[in-house]
Amino acid sequence: MKILVTGGTGFIGSHTCVELLDAGFEVVIIDNLYNSKADVVDKIESITGKKVSFYKSDCCDEDALDKIFNEHQIAAVIHFAGYKAVGESVAKPIMYYQNNLMSTLALCKVMAKHNCKRLVFSSSATVYGNPASVPIHEDFPLGPTTNPYGTTKLMIENILRDILISDDHWSIALLRYFNPIGAHKSGLIGESPNDIPNNLMPYIVKVANKELPYLHVFGNDYDTPDGTGVRDYIHVVDLAKGHVNAVEKVLNSTGIDAYNLGTGNGYSVLDVVKTFARVNNIEVPYQIDPRRPGDIAQCYASTDKAYKILDWKAEKGLEEMCKDSWHFLQMTKK
Ligand code: UFG
Repeated sequence: MKILVTGGTGFIGSHTCVELLDAGFEVVIIDNLYNSKADVVDKIESITGKKVSFYKSDCCDEDALDKIFNEHQIAAVIHFAGYKAVGESVAKPIMYYQNNLMSTLALCKVMAKHNCKRLVFSSSATVYGNPASVPIHEDFPLGPTTNPYGTTKLMIENILRDILISDDHWSIALLRYFNPIGAHKSGLIGESPNDIPNNLMPYIVKVANKELPYLHVFGNDYDTPDGTGVRDYIHVVDLAKGHVNAVEKVLNSTGIDAYNLGTGNGYSVLDVVKTFARVNNIEVPYQIDPRRPGDIAQCYASTDKAYKILDWKAEKGLEEMCKDSWHFLQMTKK
């Protein structure tokens, strides 16, 4: 059974392709390589020993999508393709709204034309805005979002709900990710941001590797155990496995539903820094700086729904996430 993965060479996309192939699915990738490299396809193939069909095309390109659906019998789609940098989205909102919304609309239009109505969408915990309490349950109020990137995720969730209202043959899973880190055990695929990273783990890795002098810890006066921000870090391989379960769910049902993909555990910035330093036996110098605008104090998931309905739960802990993130960097140097 073939699954089309948009953005399949990206960080979460590539790990998901590996898990899909391991679970016995065939994989077709469409990716314009805006934020990734073509050799990721070779790496997915070498990890799994299986072939992937790869199309270097933009997901906004309806003709390119149409060609893929003509050439393959696609059973379901996982839609990752999209811009994802929070800060950049504030500076370039038109680019974000255009790309993230247009790619989704083009995809859904071509899917409907080919009568393929099974979709897993890569959403984000950012749709909850600043939650009134933690852990966050899927039925918590959504928004207001704090940046255009987050708004595109919420808008797309709403678009998909409207599509379902118009045609109840669709089956859609909205996966709200918490904070994915780590990398595949092989060290062949992982997260490799081109510029100075925005996110905590890629920044820590660059500091540990002496590419950056020290970590800026954004605020130590939050209402959290050590004053630094608390997040639900999840190993990207666990997250990828959640997509396989979600694909199986959309293949066997109709309707639309949202699921948190997190671990249910909250760790502070200093927990992550100290765990990384300890398990990798390396120094991570840091300095306390002012809060980053738009950040919230705490964000972690209730994981009950994903467990109950998707039969999925995260299994890997923070130590393994820290080890695997560092191992990936070591491997990129070889
Ligand atoms: N942080 C630092 N220094 C840094 C980077 C981050 O102290 O250099 C802190 C932040 O203040 C926050 C925590 O580390 O407390 C995590 O920050 P990230 O930037 O890694 O992640 P966010 O929780 O801000 O956002 C991430 C993704 C979003 C997604 C969101 C979902 O970047 O795309 O999780 O909750 F929407």
